[in-house]
Amino acid sequence: MEVIILPTASEASEVAARLVARQLREKPNSVLGLATGSTPSRLYQLLARMHREDGLDFSKATTFNLDEYVNLDPNHPASYHQFMEENFFSHVNVRRESVHIPDGMVADVRAHCASYERAIREAGGIDLQILGLGSDGHLGFNEPGSSLASRTRIKTLTERTRTDNARFFTGAQEVPHHVITMGLGTIMESRMCLLLAFGKAKAEAVAASVEGPVTASVPGSLLQFHPQAKVLLDAESASSLTRAEYYRGVYQNKPSWQTDL
Ligand code: F6R
Repeated sequence: MEVIILPTASEASEVAARLVARQLREKPNSVLGLATGSTPSRLYQLLARMHREDGLDFSKATTFNLDEYVNLDPNHPASYHQFMEENFFSHVNVRRESVHIPDGMVADVRAHCASYERAIREAGGIDLQILGLGSDGHLGFNEPGSSLASRTRIKTLTERTRTDNARFFTGAQEVPHHVITMGLGTIMESRMCLLLAFGKAKAEAVAASVEGPVTASVPGSLLQFHPQAKVLLDAESASSLTRAEYYRGVYQNKPSWQTDL
């Protein structure tokens, strides 16, 4: 796990954008795993700018989103279909037929989840997975207690997550109870994971994920077992880490052959 702490979320998002751009330039037909929510918004703006100004090409890429609410119309302003359209897809040249987002309106959820897993496999697996972190430590919508081997399936949100996400809805009661989410086993098969977490509200979940024991009680901690996980933080989300100064020193003193970002 490489922990990269930058002073601001914007600077950390720039590092994330350069990593995604490098991935796409090295492998134009990359399979990207995408997250929604406040955390990756700046990253998507930066990628859209790289597309506009530097010709960063998404035309051969395939994307898989982590999750979607169950029984929420994809045209609802808080659906993740809408989020992706507004924040990313409408600003880059990704082909719509290469975009995959779980369908929360589907009648047969189990069959849909199995076919989502199959589609990821048939695409060759996820090369780079972008992740946010819940204030309760969730990854995707794998809430605390999720099986560490879980695959794409339906999950019930915790009340804490429903409260956290109420800001995207007109009120807390409107937040669905259920979601379809990639599993922790699915996420762990990605070749590279980029976890982004910003702000004081994430500090405890970051510390538990990065420095705590690996436990299903903190799904983010499973990334300690991932061979290629980078954790991008701002000063506030890093504020409860006991080894923050060490991580900063590692990043500032990287050997020149590693400082390609
Ligand atoms: C969203 C997702 C979630 C969020 C997490 C943080 O697709 O999978 O795990 O990344 O809830 O949300 P924000 O970024 O809104 O704080």
